[in-house]
Amino acid sequence: MVTSLLLTLVGVVAIALLISYQLRLTALRRRAEEAEKKAEDARRLKAQFIANVSHELKTPLNTIVGYTDLLREKKYGEMSAEQDDILRRVQSASQRFLALIQNLLDFSGAELGKIDVKISGFDLNGELASTLEIWEKLAEEKGVKITSSLDPEVGEVNSDRQKIHQAVANILSNAVKFTEKGSIELNSKLLNGELVLIEVKDTGIGIAEAHLPYVFEEFRQEDGTIKRDYGGTGLGLSISQKFVHFLGGDIGVKSKKGSGTSVRIVIPKSITHPMRREAERAPARKVLDKLP
Ligand SMILES: Nc1ncnc2c1ncn2[C@@H]1O[C@H](COP(=O)(O)OP(=O)(O)OP(=O)(O)O)[C@@H](O)[C@H]1O
Ligand SMILES: [Mg+2]
Repeated sequence: MVTSLLLTLVGVVAIALLISYQLRLTALRRRAEEAEKKAEDARRLKAQFIANVSHELKTPLNTIVGYTDLLREKKYGEMSAEQDDILRRVQSASQRFLALIQNLLDFSGAELGKIDVKISGFDLNGELASTLEIWEKLAEEKGVKITSSLDPEVGEVNSDRQKIHQAVANILSNAVKFTEKGSIELNSKLLNGELVLIEVKDTGIGIAEAHLPYVFEEFRQEDGTIKRDYGGTGLGLSISQKFVHFLGGDIGVKSKKGSGTSVRIVIPKSITHPMRREAERAPARKVLDKLP
């Protein structure tokens, strides 16, 4: 009798403990969910803020770029060679500024899941040549030679022109920033009729082996300290990689500290839709891995 009473009591206590444990667990889970939601809201709010500020900066900057282009095209009359040279500097500096803002817009766009891919037919070498032009003046001022070797076989491609421009601009920006003497090369090549190689080689400071695995990570810079010699936000390569992936391609970096860097992009010559799955870029990855 006493034993069964005791057993019932133990059972009741055990059930009560179990219920209180379950209640505590539910409360903890709810609190964790609330904290997660708050963090997600804060992340979205921050991304939205970056998007808004970048947009506000981009609009007047587009006006500067637009009028500088018109002035250089002599729409407002003739100019001396000296005036044209100064305008070329303004043009190149504002385009670099625009590229920086575009990176911030793309970073926030990716955070908010708002990256559009617009596919059209265009002359890839023409696009590469005009992207290169933005960096020529700056390289020239540093005494660094920029050359290009663009394979005419590449011809017209079906891809996203703006994404390719931005991806290559980011790589060229690094090449110019991290090269103090020597040269920078931009090359294109048709690989097998279906894939195109875009390569930027520099003779700059190179990347330490220990840092190489992190170059595509957002905000990661080899020298991330405040006293660092080279500016930047640490977004360029991560955005380039994201874009190249959307285009069904892949990107790789080879570098040796002190003796330069080479960045290679392999993309399909023609795509019909954004390629968001990893399997879709496997052919480009395979070819990239096999390059010497
Ligand atoms: N050509 C290069 N030569 C030497 N180091 C490079 C080169 N390209 C990239 N790196 C290294 O990789 C890091 C990341 O490059 P990434 O372009 O993503 O950022 P960033 O250039 O520092 O900033 P941002 O591109 O946003 O202005 C650089 O800070 C640098 O340490
Ligand atoms: Mg960069």
